[in-house]
Amino acid sequence: MKHQHQKNDVASHRVVNPLLDQKVRETAVKLREMGSQDPLKFWAEMSRDIEWSKNWEKVFDGSNTPFYRWFLGGQLNASYNCIDRHLAGWRRNKAAIIFEDERGETRVLTYQDLYREVNRLASGLKKLGVKRGEVVTIYMPMIPESVIAMLACARIGAPHSVVFGGFSADALRDRIQDASSRFLITADGGMRRGKSVPLKQNVDIALGSEKSPVEKVIVARNTGDAVPMQQGRDLWFDDVSNSGELYCEPERMDAEDPLFILYSSGTTGKPKGILHTTGGYMIGVHTTYKYTFDHREEDIYWCTADIGWITGHSYIVYAPLSNGATVVLYEGSPDYPSQDRFWSIIEKYRVSVFYTAPTAIRLFIKWGDQWPASHDLSSLRLLGSVGEPINPEVWLWYYKHIGGEKCPVMDTWWQTETGMFLITPLPGDESFVPGAATCPFPGVDVAVLNEQGEPAETGEQGYLVVRKPWPAMFRTLYKDEERYLNTYWSQYKGIYFTGDGAKQDEEGAIWVIGRIDDVINVSGHRIGTAEIESVLVEHEAVAEAAVIGKKHEIKGQAIAAFVTLKEGHNGSEELDAALKKLVAGRIGALARPEEILFSAELPKTRSGKIIRRLLRDIAEGKIIGDTTTLMDPQVVSSIKEKYGSMES
Ligand code: PRX
Repeated sequence: MKHQHQKNDVASHRVVNPLLDQKVRETAVKLREMGSQDPLKFWAEMSRDIEWSKNWEKVFDGSNTPFYRWFLGGQLNASYNCIDRHLAGWRRNKAAIIFEDERGETRVLTYQDLYREVNRLASGLKKLGVKRGEVVTIYMPMIPESVIAMLACARIGAPHSVVFGGFSADALRDRIQDASSRFLITADGGMRRGKSVPLKQNVDIALGSEKSPVEKVIVARNTGDAVPMQQGRDLWFDDVSNSGELYCEPERMDAEDPLFILYSSGTTGKPKGILHTTGGYMIGVHTTYKYTFDHREEDIYWCTADIGWITGHSYIVYAPLSNGATVVLYEGSPDYPSQDRFWSIIEKYRVSVFYTAPTAIRLFIKWGDQWPASHDLSSLRLLGSVGEPINPEVWLWYYKHIGGEKCPVMDTWWQTETGMFLITPLPGDESFVPGAATCPFPGVDVAVLNEQGEPAETGEQGYLVVRKPWPAMFRTLYKDEERYLNTYWSQYKGIYFTGDGAKQDEEGAIWVIGRIDDVINVSGHRIGTAEIESVLVEHEAVAEAAVIGKKHEIKGQAIAAFVTLKEGHNGSEELDAALKKLVAGRIGALARPEEILFSAELPKTRSGKIIRRLLRDIAEGKIIGDTTTLMDPQVVSSIKEKYGSMES
């Protein structure tokens, strides 16, 4: 039965679970009960699903807040848990990875195949001199070699730092420098809409200009493009694997030893190295995957994220493989050669669990219902969404046109920092709330607080926080403890501040509104406004820049940059193009501003702080409220006059 109610502009319109099976229902009830009674006991119980080479002695240590530690005394290896332990039985012959490239060619790696390739590379890396504890940078496309590289690093205890293949040479260089990587694993190139993305060329640029810590570059063949190989520095991936043994003993890692760092944007120009450790992370991602996606042995699971983001780390690699799942990996674009590519992949491999992002779903809606309708999607039994709030209409379209009104939709809220899902429905829930991530995962304690730190009223927008530590939480920011403390733990004592705004409806469902800090979410990718601003002001003509996220039909938010110019410079089409190019070159195409708005001045408070909220209102064509606290209230009307309503 559906019912509707409305309260303080939080509207919920429940959809009854179309597939409620008694067993799954009982599991959800039991997990929630265990999680709320005693979270530590709950996580201790969940830890049994992971194989430890030495059992842990203490589940949690909170004595040094907020530097929390989990599963103390325990030892394990993530690659062993993702591969070796599946080899004892029939799963050794099960497909671990079904890979399809953009041209439609397929490669399948069984767990036994994955084991062999990971061992060979791990052993080859060790022979090259990679040491336990040193950070290896990975800059690769969506190919099996990326997964092999990550797991090989995990096997020898070398934390990986994966840099998204869409980042530019400059962004790659910054991340390599910060991590002081001596080893870099890459590919000749990636494939996107029939064209190559020149990864190795970017690497050469990144390493070329200044002194680089990189000593060896390991290059996987993918596109087959001719790439120059620098003697003594560059090696082929296959040669490194061929030099390795068929078995490489997995390092026994302490539960709190780092598994990886992943750079993510924040409110300053410098990306943050988010550091995850081994034990708690593995338990968190394993458990959330198992229960949120109701993992079944015969599933074919496909997550469309890129390996370079946290979703790729947690829910393409570590969680599904540790559960022994079959994972589809696709290198290419959703509209190549035509706009039904995803649906043809689902039909071809009989995908049963499909996990994608609202920005992609909005594109599918725009492209038209005929594309999914022309394929048999009946193999699907469960859908997932991640990356940004999913509008109720988009949820309903996904539910109807992709899920055929028979698949539960899991709207999973989480972050690079959280490592695992923190807010999500469960497949055993009786009904779902389109548009709301709904409720905390068992054992997780989230809340919506007001400025004073009290729980916000029903329907009132507040700050989304996490009140108790959870196992897969990041442990710190790489080489920057102070920023870790200031960014996440200074707003409310002992409480994790997510940077998101949220509301809770009268049934308790949590509606995440989006970032409330100076971070914007473009197509589910997080970009700091300060990062783009600092690139813009590098240009000789630019005096000042203020970047905002402007509502966008497909991307969720689009980047708009207000720019004031130095004396003697005028806004022109050429300058507009030059600034966009500069940003794409320094960060990557994902950060390229959609619009550059030249403005004589920017609205500021009397203390000189740019008020982005006003710029956003102007850009979205909203009515501007009180401007009396501005240094110069005239500025807003002059910008408004110049650009009028710019709503797209
Ligand atoms: O604003 C939230 C949004 O994405 C941010 C985290 O971005 P990132 O660390 O790049 O990780 C993305 C993939 C986990 C959050 O602070 N976000 C993510 N999932 C959701 C979401 N917003 C609303 N609903 C979601 N399901």
